[in-house]
Amino acid sequence: MKKIIIIGGSKGIGKAITENLLKEYEVVNISRTPPDFQHANLSHHTCDILTDELPEIEAADSLIYCPGSINLKPFNRLKLDDFRTDFEINVIGAVKSIQAYTKALSQSESASIVLFSTVATKLGMPFHASVATAKSAVEGLTKSVAADLAPTIRVNAIAPTITDTELAAKFLRNERMIESTIQRHPLKKYLAPSEVAAMAEYLISDVSKSISGQIFNLDCGIVSLKL
Ligand SMILES: NC(=O)c1ccc[n+]([C@@H]2O[C@H](COP(=O)([O-])OP(=O)(O)OC[C@H]3O[C@@H](n4cnc5c(N)ncnc54)[C@H](OP(=O)(O)O)[C@@H]3O)[C@@H](O)[C@H]2O)c1
Repeated sequence: MKKIIIIGGSKGIGKAITENLLKEYEVVNISRTPPDFQHANLSHHTCDILTDELPEIEAADSLIYCPGSINLKPFNRLKLDDFRTDFEINVIGAVKSIQAYTKALSQSESASIVLFSTVATKLGMPFHASVATAKSAVEGLTKSVAADLAPTIRVNAIAPTITDTELAAKFLRNERMIESTIQRHPLKKYLAPSEVAAMAEYLISDVSKSISGQIFNLDCGIVSLKL
């Protein structure tokens, strides 16, 4: 059974990924709190990616890094520390995880890494300067590390639009906000975590063995289409 390391599999998109993968994969979750579900194929390490050492794992087939932020403020209210905080969780945490597990992944015949960006790197949106800056760095990291690690480990990123998780809850907290989110997207919807999980499963599977260094927009049309 292939082994997947997921950083942030306890909640949100990571939880949907974990639940989806447990049928066929062994999943090692690393997060600050344990998942609220159990499975014979699931193990958990409590760890804060920003402050703690990552657990030693000898061999694995994929690494998925989920922690991130949606810190939206007008540019003139964003402090330098907002940029630093967003950079730490989105970029430095991902770098730390990749560096910790490159050796473990190198032993796999079909190793891959999945990171998370956002649609806000492609489309100038008010209030998104800090998160768009950090996630643009994630996209640069994805492409350059994909080159460094080729042909042994594939590296790709998913750039979702708003997805129904705890992180996005404040933007979907009432009917008016939900309706306005739906109407902003050309496909008249936003994302369920399970849709993002399906893309992550594709990117770690051998079906995507020819794909590396790419960013996949799951955008419900907001970046790609103008109606
Ligand atoms: N939701 C959206 O609308 C949306 C849109 C665009 C992009 N994204 C990106 O997609 C990714 C997943 O988003 P999400 O909505 O699923 O986020 P989420 O609901 O906040 O889940 C994040 C996961 O990461 C873990 N985590 C957070 N900080 C951590 C830390 N310091 N150390 C270890 N684990 C940590 C959390 O678990 P613990 O709290 O237990 O540690 C949780 O399992 C993020 O990178 C986000 O930026 C999300």
